[in-house]
Amino acid sequence: MIETIKQQIKIKLEEYYLTNYNTKIDIIVEEPKNPELGDISVPMFAVVKVLKKPMPEIVAEAIQVICKMDSIQEVMNVGAFINIKILKNKLAQDVLRVALLEGENYGASDIGNGKRVTLDYSAPNIAKSFSVGHLRSTMIGNSIHLILKKCGYDTFSINYLGDWGTQFGKMIVAYKKWGNLEAIQKNPIQELTNLYVRFHEEAKVNPSLDDDAREAFRKMELKDPEYLELWRWIREESLKESAQIYELLGVDFDSYNGEAFYNDKMDSVVEELESKGLLKEDQGAQIVDLGDDVPPALIKRSDGGSLYITRDLAAVFYRKKEYKFDKILYVVGNEQKLHFTQLKRLITKMGYDFADQIEHINFGLYLTNGKKMSTRSGRVVKLYDVLMKAIGLAYDLIHAKNPNLKDKEATAKAVGIAAIVFGDLKNYRGLDAEFDIEQSVKFEGQTGPYLQYTGVRIASILRGKTIEVENMNINVFEKPHYFELIKQISLFKSIIERSANEYAPSILAKYLLGLAQSFNKFYSLEKINTDDEQLRNSNFAVAKATRIILNEGLRLLGIPYVEEM
Ligand code: ARG
Repeated sequence: MIETIKQQIKIKLEEYYLTNYNTKIDIIVEEPKNPELGDISVPMFAVVKVLKKPMPEIVAEAIQVICKMDSIQEVMNVGAFINIKILKNKLAQDVLRVALLEGENYGASDIGNGKRVTLDYSAPNIAKSFSVGHLRSTMIGNSIHLILKKCGYDTFSINYLGDWGTQFGKMIVAYKKWGNLEAIQKNPIQELTNLYVRFHEEAKVNPSLDDDAREAFRKMELKDPEYLELWRWIREESLKESAQIYELLGVDFDSYNGEAFYNDKMDSVVEELESKGLLKEDQGAQIVDLGDDVPPALIKRSDGGSLYITRDLAAVFYRKKEYKFDKILYVVGNEQKLHFTQLKRLITKMGYDFADQIEHINFGLYLTNGKKMSTRSGRVVKLYDVLMKAIGLAYDLIHAKNPNLKDKEATAKAVGIAAIVFGDLKNYRGLDAEFDIEQSVKFEGQTGPYLQYTGVRIASILRGKTIEVENMNINVFEKPHYFELIKQISLFKSIIERSANEYAPSILAKYLLGLAQSFNKFYSLEKINTDDEQLRNSNFAVAKATRIILNEGLRLLGIPYVEEM
């Protein structure tokens, strides 16, 4: 709300100078550090300098303009500054009315204007364990997806499964040597992981296994029916691990077309590169030069094997045609920066003009005690187990706090997920993040459970109560602990828009922490359920608006709702 008034003052003054002096002046509008001076202040130096008139005249004119505006209580002049007090009570009332009226739609925006955004995220390499990097991609991608939807974008989400590649060659070799059909069917994730780990261990002492795996993969690429059948089966079984994680996180996709889907779509791309004279032979392989600043793209291996970039090239053309995106986002780790630079460069070289619609939404590593958390063979950190551990810890905390809670399991699940997801999303995605499960599950500090807990606290205050928004004491809103909170409530929409524009859920996550802190401060200073009817309505409205934002904000981060904990 203050933002809007600041904006209006700026526009009004700039218009005034344009019409009356035929001069374009950039007016600066700020919020004074010392609130005693007012809520908004406008320094007039720049105007004096441009118009070359005495300060008092300039100030007097500007005050005339500002006084005519709505929501202004008082305008004062101190030296070169015009200080403005706004009608806080009215503004606050408007904000609360809107929030309560709009409910879960509060904060919705139309900046997306129906534009189509395709998102590529999660993309685990199946037949390998679901890695921490893929978990980050899943959570960040899911949240960006939800935020963009809230901003009126027409979204389409794709899980570009890594369902083709040498890892399947390894699996097939391992299965043929040591596998047991029944055991796998009974316990697919465990058994397949064991096979994969065993392959890596044995290949260390017996490198010829790697040749066998390459040969097996070659057979797959040559469409050998037996091998394709095995591939299909291993693919299905290993997808169950990802499915478990998606179910837990409540994540779903519009398409699961993975790498294998593009097997028959690469030839035409390679032909096009060829016909445009871009392909070049290099030690038996086919490459495309991309200029001095970017290394060449390897399009076809010397043994004819297909490559990651060629597949992504085929995929992006297919998606452009099928989904007609205005923008395509790839939520993938920092280590693939070069890959996406090459992809864009290739498209431009081929004569297409949509490279700038492609955006690599990069993210950093997850660290535990400063070291990379990894799911490599041998030292397998099973992600599902990590999630389960968080849920277990949440259960213990809930049990200790509220032993009689009805559905402790379901609540623990929601709280455990909040811990993991928020623990990730509060960090700016591009940076490496230190991750500590125990810390993330706590109900206090900068955690997801803290936000859920604040929401639950509000829910319990408001349970069974009615709020009469038209019967509030609006003068209390001028008190700093009210106004600070209401100001934050008013910012929700612009925070969502910023998170969307920067593809950064961390902006929303940090805002929610600030909001919860302001609420808890308010809560410690005010008896919310007071006997004074008008005051009570004011307090309830503030609490309710906070709860609406916490719920909706957490939902946009992919964190489930809790009613009690
Ligand atoms: N499966 C790939 C990996 O784990 C990520 C795929 C990302 N998406 C893409 N279109 N390249 O490295």
